[in-house]
Amino acid sequence: MQELKEMIVKKGIVLDENVLKVDSFLTHQIDALLMEKIGKRFAKLYQNAGITKVVTIEASGIAPAVFAGLALNVPVIFARKQKSLTMNTELLTASVYSFTKQVTNDISISTKFLTSDDCVLVIDDFLANGQAALGLIELCRQAGSDVAGIGIVIEKSFQNGRQLIEDKGYRVDSLARVKSLKDNKVEFVSEEE
Ligand code: G4P
Repeated sequence: MQELKEMIVKKGIVLDENVLKVDSFLTHQIDALLMEKIGKRFAKLYQNAGITKVVTIEASGIAPAVFAGLALNVPVIFARKQKSLTMNTELLTASVYSFTKQVTNDISISTKFLTSDDCVLVIDDFLANGQAALGLIELCRQAGSDVAGIGIVIEKSFQNGRQLIEDKGYRVDSLARVKSLKDNKVEFVSEEE
């Protein structure tokens, strides 16, 4: 998605060879107009997939997921990293280890929001090592829901997340694929690669 790539080049900050800071439009301050276009793009990619729910994880997945849900006209569910006081129903749960942050989160979604009748589009802001996406896929599996695919805003293609998810047979659609962050420069995977 050209507009997203241009925003990454203009406003993204390369912190080191592994980390891209995009807090001015995606992970802290949110560019709602760009997010709306991102949501429409995901909706177009999955318009014939029979999506009934969009599933993401708090916090930074919520913005692109809400706009995808709006464009697809389906509810959006975000997995919680901490149990809420009012979460007293049965829960679907999975452990997600973050290599970046070196912490494990037990993520959860209430069983009442995902069922075997659902066909899910999983959305997340970043795809790095794929652990968050795999955790969300696991919650869908526990609910008996189908997973039509994984929609990612920014994929770091030099990490192994896509491989792990595709190896399990799932479709992955990333709107920007970053090939390298070396020399303080963002290099994208060319469309042909
Ligand atoms: P994984 O889910 O693909 O395995 O990713 P990983 O554990 O490596 O990443 C953990 C967290 O760090 C995730 O956010 C992910 O979105 C974020 N992250 C990974 N790589 C980058 C990066 O290059 N830049 C930025 N800005 N974030 C990155 P999270 O813990 O779920 O946090 P949040 O959504 O609550 O902010």
